[in-house]
Amino acid sequence: MSEKIVFALAKGRLAEKSVEILEKCGIDCRCILEPSRKLVMSDVSGKFEFIFVKPSDVPIYVEHGVADIGVVGKDTLLEEGRDVYELIDLGFAKCRLCLAGYKNTDLTNYRNSLKVATKYVNVAKDYFDGRGQNVEIVPLHGSIELGPIVGLSDIILDIVESGKTLQENDLCVLEEIVNCSARLIVNKVSLKTKAEDIKPLVGKIDEIIKSQN
Ligand code: PRP
Repeated sequence: MSEKIVFALAKGRLAEKSVEILEKCGIDCRCILEPSRKLVMSDVSGKFEFIFVKPSDVPIYVEHGVADIGVVGKDTLLEEGRDVYELIDLGFAKCRLCLAGYKNTDLTNYRNSLKVATKYVNVAKDYFDGRGQNVEIVPLHGSIELGPIVGLSDIILDIVESGKTLQENDLCVLEEIVNCSARLIVNKVSLKTKAEDIKPLVGKIDEIIKSQN
C-alpha cells in the first residue's frame, strides 16, 4: 500500500455494516469504534483515513475527491446524482423507495394538485415528470410520514425498510418506485491515480460480498 486511502462513511443506519465489511478486508477499524467526537480518524498504520458524514454528503465528498471511497445508499445516490463510480452493490440496508399514503388514495384523482412530501425532491421530480403528472413537492428533512397525517401533503415519497413506520401510522405503500441498498462508490480520478491501492481493495470487498450471498 503506497498512498493513503480516505473513506467517507454514512452516519446512522449504514455505519455498523460499513465498518463490518472494512474489518473483513483486514482494515483495522478500532479508531472508529472508540467513542469520540473526532471527525477524521486514522488507522494505526496511517494508511486509511475515515470521515463520518451525513448520508447525503457522502457522494459529495467522493465526487470532490476529498474521499476516495464511500459507502452510501442507492436512494441517496439517486437523489444526489453525483459524478462518481458506483462499483459494488453491498447488499445490506435493503429498502424500497415508495409512494405511500392512506389506503385507497387515488393518485390519479389529483392530476394537477397532488402534494408529495419527501426528502427525495429530485427523485420525486423525475418520477412524476416521467408520468407527465404535475405535483407539488413539499421538501422535508425527517418524519416524512407526518405529511398525510397532519394534512401537509396527500402522499409521501420515502424509503420503506421494515414497513413498521407506515403500519404504525395507518399508512401503506401505494406504489413501489425502486429497490435500494448500500453501494460502494469511488472517486473517478482516485480509481486511476490510486489504482494500485484501490483496485485490490475493491476486488476484496467484491469477493466478501459474493461469498456472503
Ligand atoms: C426512515 C424513513 C422512514 C423509516 C422507514 O426514517 O424516512 O421514516 O425510516 O423505515 P421502516 O420501514 O423500517 O419503518 P429514519 O429512521 O431514517 O428517520 P427520519 O424520519 O428522521 O428520516
